[in-house]
Formats: sequence, structure tokens, C-alpha cells
Amino acid sequence: MKISGNTVLITGGASGIGLALAGAFYREKNTVIILGRSQDKLAQAQKRYPGLHTLQVDITSEQQRLELAETLTTEFPGLNLLVNNAGVAYFGDAQQPTELFKHACIEIDTNYLAPLHLSLLLLPQLRQQPSPAIVNITTAGVYLPLTIMPGYSASKAAFSSITHVLRQQLANTPLKVFEVLPPAVDTQLVSRFKVQKLQPDLLAQKIVSGIKKNHYDMPLGSARALKWLARLAPTFCEGILHRQMTKMLNDHQ
Ligand SMILES: NC(=O)c1ccc[n+]([C@@H]2O[C@H](COP(=O)([O-])OP(=O)(O)OC[C@H]3O[C@@H](n4cnc5c(N)ncnc54)[C@H](OP(=O)(O)O)[C@@H]3O)[C@@H](O)[C@H]2O)c1
Repeated sequence: MKISGNTVLITGGASGIGLALAGAFYREKNTVIILGRSQDKLAQAQKRYPGLHTLQVDITSEQQRLELAETLTTEFPGLNLLVNNAGVAYFGDAQQPTELFKHACIEIDTNYLAPLHLSLLLLPQLRQQPSPAIVNITTAGVYLPLTIMPGYSASKAAFSSITHVLRQQLANTPLKVFEVLPPAVDTQLVSRFKVQKLQPDLLAQKIVSGIKKNHYDMPLGSARALKWLARLAPTFCEGILHRQMTKMLNDHQ
């Protein structure tokens, strides 16, 4: 797929991986629209990349998603690339069930239902374009659940599953469906993770390069090894990962 001359919408584009992607697409001469809840963060991003378009939207609101689809049709009729990047993550423990469930509801809304609905709402507009695509940011945690983030892992597994379904169901149309599975990346989302992390700008470069080469399935960095390890010895790897992550959390509390 060509990586310049597109009209790109990035959800959660005012920080972290989304902002790095916004910068990468901006430098490649695309029209870039970012959305998020915080007007301050959107304004900061616009200051950094003048010409960036911003929309204040809470993607968990169905009403706001419907209004967003209308706005995009009228103000950005050429939209051809949707990046479903916005996400939230909470630590969770079955020993605190009320909190775990409350967070799991927010995670399933933000990380699965909202991007699914947004993708379906935008399908008619995207499919009018000569070269349309949807890029879904899931996580390496799709291969093995991050047991300290139970609701997050489950919501991303659901999002990954529907990404595969959409890719197959739309295979005979021009619309391409990409899935990006990042490892730990140095952003606010995982600031409490004391592990080696990829820098967001490097990740963004890899994503843009993968889109250019039509790499529809994109495990990046250590996610590539995890993909195969999880297939070879799932129970063994899950146990190791669980013990390492629990220890890391306890050591840094
Ligand atoms: N960092 C990692 O290690 C890692 C690894 C694998 C996958 N990922 C995935 O990468 C994506 C980006 O995360 P990140 O690491 O860059 O974290 P981040 O900096 O916290 O970015 C998340 C973005 O999502 C936006 N957002 C959250 N809820 C929203 C809502 N209801 N409506 C609109 N926007 C919303 C936030 O903006 P507002 O708060 O302004 O709304 C924020 O800009 C997520 O899907 C995450 O699951 C991250």
C-alpha cells in the first residue's frame, strides 16, 4: 500500500504510539486526523505537527461515534486509512473481583466494542476509496495473556479475533485489514512495567514500513519470538510469563 497521499484517522493519536504514528504519517505527506478525549493533549500534538487535524471524541460513546462518522463523511470525504489505536489497560487481580470487573467493562468497551463499531460505521466511506485499509493495534499479549492485566488481555484477544474475521470477510474487496501486535513500548500505558521497551517512534517506523510492504499480520520486536514460543509450549510459557510479571509488580510496589 502506498504510504503517502492518504487521509488517515488515528484514534488515540495525541500520545504514545498514536502520536508517533501521526508524526510518521505526517512526515510522509498524508492528511492526518487524530482523535482523543483530552483537548489539551490534542492541542499539544497540533503544536508539534502544524496542519494535523484534531477531533475531541470519546470513542466509548455510541452517540459520539455516530457523530464522528457524519463529520468524517462531510469534512474528510477522502478518508481511506483508519488506525484503531486508542486503548486503556488496568492491572487486575481476581482477589479484588469488583474492581477487576469494573475495569474489564471499560477495557472491553474501549479496546473491542468501540473500534469494532467505528470500523463498521466507516466501512461504506472507506470502501468508496481506491486504496482503503484498517490498521488495528492489538498486542503481543494476544499470543499469551498478560495475567496481571486480565481484562486488557481478554479485550485485545477479542479485537484480534474480529480483525481476522474482517480480513477474511473483506478479502475479495480492495479494503485491507492489518493487525499490529507490539511488544512493550515506552508509553504512559505501561509506565509501571519495568521491562525493556521499544521507543514509540521506532515502532511507528516499523508499522509504516509494514503497511508499505502489505504485511497484514505484524508482530513486532519480541512479539515475533513470542508468537512461536506460545505455539510450541503454551502452558510452560504462560507460567513463566505469569511468574515474571507478578515478581516485577511486587518488586516495584
Ligand atoms: N505501550 C505498550 O507497551 C503497548 C503494547 C502493545 C499494545 N499497545 C496498544 O497501543 C495502543 C496505544 O497505547 P499507548 O501505549 O500509546 O498508550 P497511551 O499513550 O496511553 O495512548 C492511548 C491513547 O488512547 C486514547 N484513548 C483512551 N481511551 C479513549 C477513549 N475512550 N476515546 C478516545 N481516545 C481514547 C488516549 O487519549 P485520551 O486520554 O486523551 O482520550 C491516548 O491518547 C493501545 O491500543 C495499546 O493497547 C501498547
